[in-house]
Amino acid sequence: MTKQTKKRRILVAITGASGAIYGVRLLEMLRGSSNIEVHLTLSKAGRLTLGAECRREASELEAMADVVHSAANVGAAPASGSFRLDGMIIVPCSIKTASNIAYGNTADLISRAADVMLKERRNLVLAVRETPLHWGHLETLTRLAKLGAVIFPPLPGFYHNPETIDEIVDQSCMRMLDQLGIDVEAAPRWGEADGVAPIGANSCDEDG
Ligand SMILES: Cc1cc2nc3c(=O)[nH]c(=O)nc-3n(C[C@H](O)[C@H](O)[C@H](O)COP(=O)(O)O)c2cc1C
Repeated sequence: MTKQTKKRRILVAITGASGAIYGVRLLEMLRGSSNIEVHLTLSKAGRLTLGAECRREASELEAMADVVHSAANVGAAPASGSFRLDGMIIVPCSIKTASNIAYGNTADLISRAADVMLKERRNLVLAVRETPLHWGHLETLTRLAKLGAVIFPPLPGFYHNPETIDEIVDQSCMRMLDQLGIDVEAAPRWGEADGVAPIGANSCDEDG
């Protein structure tokens, strides 16, 4: 007997790196997509940074999700590969959590669910935020990329001429969702008819 899940399931995890605003905005974007079932989990440090940076309670974010999981519960549904998750994004992703995933330390739900995504060859996007990066960070990120994760530091682009923090955040979140195959038109795209006009479009040669 086959059973089809109509909605795509996405797990959003918010950890304690700076940039809680990216997690908030991404959830708001997903909430607007009727064909996506949003699962959410926040680490303890993620709750702290959410309060410090956005002045928001975890409960406000949890109200935007279809299903909320305790980050301490390694028995929750996303801890098993038999639970059909279409994608997972950790946004923002701390170095601690990135390291846990890279080296198989799966004592909490976030690192366990991410490990499951990798072993099942499913989409895992890590919005890792730290700067500057030392050799150990870079080695960890290289290892994660080799394992199949998308390393997506929320580095702003400026080619769409943003004027506000929201415009910067929106563009990064839109591009993160692109990685999960979710279309949200939240910022002008380069070269699209309603986006940013490409430059040098008619010249293939440098003198031209
Ligand atoms: C305000 C604040 C900002 C932080 N910013 C970062 C950061 O940008 N990157 C990072 O890796 N850790 C950052 N940390 C430290 C993490 O919160 C800490 O390493 C924590 O243990 C991460 O745990 P988690 O991955 O379970 O959320 C920050 C902590 C605080 C309180």
